Order: sequence, then structure tokens, then C-alpha cells
Amino acid sequence: MGSSVEQNILVTGGAGFIGTHTVVQLLKEGFKVSIIDNLDNSVIEAVDRVRELVGPDLSKKLEFTQGDLRNKGDIEKLFSKQRFDAVIHFAGLKAVGESVGNPRRYFDNNLVGTINLYETMAKHNCKMMVFSSSATVYGQPEKIPCMEDFELKAMNPYGRTKLFLEEIARDIQAAEPEWRIVLLRYFNPVGAHESGRIGEDPKGIPNNLMPYIQQVAVGRLPELNVYGHDYPTEDGSAVRDYIHVMDLADGHIAALRKLFDDPKIGCTAYNLGTGRGTSVLEMVTAFEKASGKKIPIKLCPRRLGDATAVYASTEKAEKELGWKAKYGVEEMCRDQWNWANNNPWGYQKKR
Ligand code: NAD
Ligand code: WQD
Repeated sequence: MGSSVEQNILVTGGAGFIGTHTVVQLLKEGFKVSIIDNLDNSVIEAVDRVRELVGPDLSKKLEFTQGDLRNKGDIEKLFSKQRFDAVIHFAGLKAVGESVGNPRRYFDNNLVGTINLYETMAKHNCKMMVFSSSATVYGQPEKIPCMEDFELKAMNPYGRTKLFLEEIARDIQAAEPEWRIVLLRYFNPVGAHESGRIGEDPKGIPNNLMPYIQQVAVGRLPELNVYGHDYPTEDGSAVRDYIHVMDLADGHIAALRKLFDDPKIGCTAYNLGTGRGTSVLEMVTAFEKASGKKIPIKLCPRRLGDATAVYASTEKAEKELGWKAKYGVEEMCRDQWNWANNNPWGYQKKR
């Protein structure tokens, strides 16, 4: 089954970083899209820009509802109005440090929200889901590249919500085999849409490397703290698998097609990464090259809980989803800089 019959997709958290980029691709691929987002970590301007990017005709196939997954009534309202063929479930809180200080907020938002979603989907007989999991479920992997059948472990409450939600998905599918669920384990999503109109816009001081580098480049922050320069890696800094958000968006289309086409999919996990590792210092150099800006750095002690090197095995996604990342670090930095340069204060004028 292709998308020619105009499948209708509910996208939770569709106003966020990965959500907006995925919605652009979904609309371009001919899907109808309904977003539910409580705008806790996003702004409506991002959805307006998605509309602008896809143009007036495709915009008619996008609807937005401000709602919260913790309120079952908000989800029920959507399902009682229309039939959804599948759900892409991005909505969730994702700040590791915040989850350590306030685990109840994470369990309430990520777990209760998702359970409400499953309940409402089951009631309305919509049993296909693409779920945003994370490489965090590999903890500090003993071997690299990470394979989908590695033992799973969580290092913090945020990671535990992803681990629990993976287990919950497996249990639901085992009990009711008609469910088809794809768990996508993203590695380190970076970059932005090539137009420079949508991108990542974290509130407050960024926790993640690329948004931090971006804010140094535009002069919002004075220097980058490089956490760890004594790792057993080539240049002493930690290694991660950065993946362009547009590749990630296309990975969701591939996962949806798999759900529609493969009745035997059950509940299956796939890594979405490039399979290549890049160190923090290599990333800084690549960003300097793309932006023409100097990124002053300060070498600092390691960040608690960080692994030395994490990157994906991409074999399973390539073989079973027919998906492979197209972009490298150069394009990631080019597009991230284009977004930063055009929107130094993100979606707001200035904060
Ligand atoms: P994001 O914060 O930009 O987007 C998440 C969106 O969900 C936000 O717009 C937020 O307002 C919304 N939301 C949160 N709780 C909600 C609720 N209860 N009801 C309705 N809407 C709610 O984050 P993102 O980077 O786009 O991440 C999307 C998903 O991918 C998350 O589940 C995240 O855990 C996962 N993930 C992200 C990364 C990453 O580094 N960005 C890596 C791995 C996995
Ligand atoms: C990358 C590297 C840092 C900031 C996190 C979550 C993970 C997933 C992706 C959601 C590390 C170093 C960072 C800085 C630095 N998210 N760094 N200075 O930790 O690999 O993964 O985001 O699921 O769950 O844990 O990503 O971007 O925070 O860090 O030196 O100011 O950059 O120490 O080596 P991480 P990150």
C-alpha cells in the first residue's frame, strides 16, 4: 500500500524539532497530517513556517490542535472527529539533566501521555505506531557499533522513560498481535531544513552540543565547554553518531511504509544513525568551516554519565526499511549554520 489513498497520520509533538521536519516530508509525500502538541517546548510559529514551506495547497492537508496527551479528552476529541491510519509519536520531554532533578514530571508526561495515547488508539481501532525512542536505551554500550539486539539499559530517568515505553510497546503488541509498532532509536539529531526556515530552538541554555555551538557562533554564548579531553579516542574528545534531521524525517516515512506494507512487523526496533562516529573537536572544526566563525573552546572535565563513543549499526534499517542516511557532517553544519544565521534568536525576534 502506498500513500496514494491519502493516509491520515496523527503526529504528536509535531511542532517540535524533529516533528516539524517530519511533517514537511509527510505532506510532500502526499499524507494528510494532524498535529497535537501542547507547545510546552515549541511555538506555533514553527507550524506556520511548515505551512509556508509546503505552500498553500499542501497546507490544507495539515491541521493543528493545541492539546496535551496527559488529558485523555484532548486525544479522544481528535479520534472522534476523524479516522487515523497511523500515529507518529514524538511528544515527550527530553532533557536528561531536568529528568534527574524532576523524575515525576518525566514519568507523568512521557509515560502517562503515551499510555493515554495507546488507550485511545485501541478504542478507535488505530493500531499502527511509530515511536521516538533513542540511542539512550543502549546506556554506555560495551561494544560499538550499537546493534538493535544489544542489552538495553537506562542511565537516567529520561532514558528510563524510553526504556519503559519500549517495553510497554512490546507487551501491548505481544498481547494484541494486530498492533504494528516501529521503535526508532535516534542517535544525535542535528542540522535543519535546507531552507533555514525551521530548526531546533531550545529554551534556555542548550544542553546538547550542536545548539550550543550554534549559539556561540551567533554570539549568544561566549565559548563552548568541551566536556572531556582525555577519552581514549583519537583527539581525546567523545565520539557520537550525528544524524541530519532531514535524514531522520525520511526515516519516519520509510518506517510508516513498512507499517502499512508488512503485516508481520510486530514490534520492531531500528537504529537511525549514519553509522559514523564524529568527535566533539571534529564537530567544532566542521562548524567553523561551514560558518566561517571561530568557536572559542574551553577544555573541561568529562560530563557525568557520558559514554566515550557511541555510534549505530545501520544494517537493519538499510535492509528492512530500505533507508540510509544521505548527509554527512558537512551538510549538517551547513544547514545548522544557515538556520542559525537566518534566525539567531530562533523563532522569536529576540528574547
Ligand atoms: P522537541 O521538544 O522539540 O519536540 C517534542 C514536542 O512534544 C514539543 O513540541 C512539545 O511541546 C511536545 N510535547 C511534549 N509533551 C507533550 C504532551 N504531554 N502533550 C502534547 N505535546 C507534548 O523534541 P524533539 O527533539 O523533536 O524530540 C522528539 C522526540 O524524539 C522526543 O520523544 C524525544 O525524546 C525523542 N528523541 C530526541 C532526540 C534529540 O536529541 N532531539 C534524540 C532521541 C530521541
Ligand atoms: C554530545 C557530546 C558531550 C554539550 C543526548 C541524550 C540522548 C539523546 C541525544 C534524546 C558529548 C559533548 C555537549 C556541550 C560538550 N537525546 N558536549 N559540550 O549526550 O550524546 O545525547 O542527546 O534521546 O539521550 O543524552 O548528546 O549533544 O548532549 O552531547 O562537550 O556543551 O558533546 O559531552 O560528548 P548526547 P549531547
